[in-house]
Amino acid sequence: MRKFISIQQKIVKFKKKIISVPGDKSLSIRFILLSSLTQGKCIAYNILKSEDVISAIKNIKKLGIKIVLKESNCEVYGKGLFGYKYKKNLVLDAGNSGTTARLLCSTLIDAKFPIKIIGDKSLIKRDMSRVIKPLKLFGAKFKDNNGKLPILIEGSKFTKPINYKENLGSAQCKSAVMIAALKTFGTTKIKSLPSRNHTELLFKNALNVPIKVINKKKYDLIEVKGKSEIKPFDYKIPGDVSSAAFFIVLTILSKNSKLILKNVNINPSRVGIITILKMMGAKIKFFNKKKYKGEIIGDIFVESANRLKAINLNSSLNSSAIDEFLLIFLVASKCDGVSSFVRLSELNKKESKRLDWGIKILKMMNVKVIKTKNNGIKIWGRKTFPVKKKYIIKNYLKDHRIFMLSAIAALSLGGNWKIYDPNSFKTSFPTFLKTLISLGAKIK
Ligand code: S3P
Repeated sequence: MRKFISIQQKIVKFKKKIISVPGDKSLSIRFILLSSLTQGKCIAYNILKSEDVISAIKNIKKLGIKIVLKESNCEVYGKGLFGYKYKKNLVLDAGNSGTTARLLCSTLIDAKFPIKIIGDKSLIKRDMSRVIKPLKLFGAKFKDNNGKLPILIEGSKFTKPINYKENLGSAQCKSAVMIAALKTFGTTKIKSLPSRNHTELLFKNALNVPIKVINKKKYDLIEVKGKSEIKPFDYKIPGDVSSAAFFIVLTILSKNSKLILKNVNINPSRVGIITILKMMGAKIKFFNKKKYKGEIIGDIFVESANRLKAINLNSSLNSSAIDEFLLIFLVASKCDGVSSFVRLSELNKKESKRLDWGIKILKMMNVKVIKTKNNGIKIWGRKTFPVKKKYIIKNYLKDHRIFMLSAIAALSLGGNWKIYDPNSFKTSFPTFLKTLISLGAKIK
């Protein structure tokens, strides 16, 4: 097996290419978990076939739910809200997927026997206490390893609704509470900092779950009523803007290039990166916009930027750009002036310590960068910087976004890059390298 990929030259211009990116990861995992709780057959089209989604599928199958993954669709045969077949000594492996691990816990608050949840080298370093705390209030019992995996979860016959304050701006925490609320009789009330709202939209527009959402300026108020039955649903999963972001940034940083990305989910709670790139002077437009089950889908047009300007960003867009900050840092390094970003501690709680890795990679690229108070970062950008001979990206816990960021940096900067763990990108974007090659990238 190959140990690394090697990129040794910049990408040459790509004129008006049209590409698609695979289905949205957040929506794909939510589809698998939520459809398993319905009473009947659900079908998803364009589901993402990445390792994270396969982890979700394997675990739901272990709970006695039939799932058929076909070439063009995925069928899930739900057995109702309380239809999982709980076996003794069941072990569920969430692999690399934080979303799977955390949301899965919420579907198990009625488990009859203790269920063990494990994960890979990266996932066992991540905080589970953020979902364990609220799920305990519903009545579930946990044995954990200082708030980390592996954990044992045992459900309760007498689950009850809760009142919960979500302070991290984490869609995973909010969604875990919302899904657990389904398995109670009564109304769960959540006050949460804004974060991606796919679960709210699915509840309202696909599952017909009684839900109230009030969007205040600084937080959302959400009420979910537990149910006895959820009707099955079909879903056409749009492209993932977090995957599209790599190609948007590649285009911006390449010369004389234009790109159209078809059928991408441009839900406002996900497109912080586009707002930020536009503030920096990038030319990006949405067109063919349409609404689908509450989500907004559109095509994205982007072209090379001639001049990019530095920005000082407050934290209001942090949650809507949470998975894209490595790319934002890369663009900031090419901006005219000094950019700053604040309150990014959540970045160091992802698949790897992304804030620290961002700094490390920029330093490797000869960019002046410092970590500031408040878990912020300051980046001294310049239009060109000297290209070093060798860049080696290694030991990054196989974080898919570090791998893809490094490939984009290599293709827009030049130099001789070796990026280890060449399969990392399969976690979220299995066709990443293929798509790059279709645009003319030379990758060995
Ligand atoms: C996700 C939410 C985000 C994001 C993750 C997917 C989701 O995590 O980083 O990749 O699908 O809800 P947090 O909610 O923990 O910020």
